[in-house]
Amino acid sequence: MLYVSMPLINLEDVSKVFGFGDATSLALDSINLIVQKGEFVAFMGPSGSGKSTLMNMIGLLDKPSHGSYLLDGKSVARLRPNQSAKIRRDTIGFIFQSSNLLSRLNVLDNVALPLAYRGFSISKRTKLASDMLNRVGISHREYFFPSQLSGGQLQCAAIARALVNNPKLIIADEPTGNLDSIGSRLIMELLTEIHKMGNTVLFVTHNPELTRYANRVVYMHDGAIIHDETTPYGRVAKIARRSMYTIPDKTDEDDYAGVSILMHAFPDMSLSDKSSKEPDHKKNMKKTKSQRKRRSKK
Ligand SMILES: Nc1ncnc2c1ncn2[C@@H]1O[C@H](COP(=O)(O)OP(=O)(O)O)[C@@H](O)[C@H]1O
Ligand SMILES: [Mg+2]
Repeated sequence: MLYVSMPLINLEDVSKVFGFGDATSLALDSINLIVQKGEFVAFMGPSGSGKSTLMNMIGLLDKPSHGSYLLDGKSVARLRPNQSAKIRRDTIGFIFQSSNLLSRLNVLDNVALPLAYRGFSISKRTKLASDMLNRVGISHREYFFPSQLSGGQLQCAAIARALVNNPKLIIADEPTGNLDSIGSRLIMELLTEIHKMGNTVLFVTHNPELTRYANRVVYMHDGAIIHDETTPYGRVAKIARRSMYTIPDKTDEDDYAGVSILMHAFPDMSLSDKSSKEPDHKKNMKKTKSQRKRRSKK
């Protein structure tokens, strides 16, 4: 008998609609995605393409409007909030662009907090949190408050907090978005270490250079996955090297979020892009599905 291992994540025809009546927007449009245990996946795509919505969906912070989601073989698309909170607590670690540490707690207490929800004794949680801070390299900052840390140190602390429950799935939504290139590398190396220990890591990035760390790159546009590529470790993914990365309707937000980094990586790239030549009303126009299909074929 052929043994096929169960995927960790299995999304089938998942859509997400926000809003009501005339003011709806389709943030995810029939997403099909399978992620095996132990993959290290980068998600790319312009702002508004649905990356965060997808991460929140996968991380059970949000529910699909349509479609099915199996997490480790268990159907999780229609769970009640307390059921999804429990799965989230036990299996998923989140890292966001800003560290979201509580300002009134020191670093150690911030990292220990998730363990308090699980009923660990104070000495046990302090020990585990301290070990984790040691692992991410900031044990000398245990008794500092978040306002006293650098951006990179804050992200290290956020990673420690995400990992302290020993989650098997780590979801990092633009974890390096606020960091310089040295800080970004540090965070990516930490994620790589976590991945090597057998965990599954998903991360969102605008920086093509960071696809070197991933073994797969998923590219989104208008709520759909338009490209999915397996890529060797250490190499920038083809999709990220292609100019296509800059072609989809680029917003001002994208310029701030990604292009400056892109320029850094490819200093020769020309600044001109077609979206800036488009009249404003056209840029903001909602595309129909067929327009989008045609567009993605180009
Ligand atoms: N809570 C929300 N309410 C209404 N619309 C939302 C909400 N979250 C996201 N959207 C919309 O869904 C689309 C995808 O957003 P998002 O997933 O944040 O994209 P990305 O992370 O790729 O920038 C955007 O059009 C955005 O405006
Ligand atoms: Mg986002």
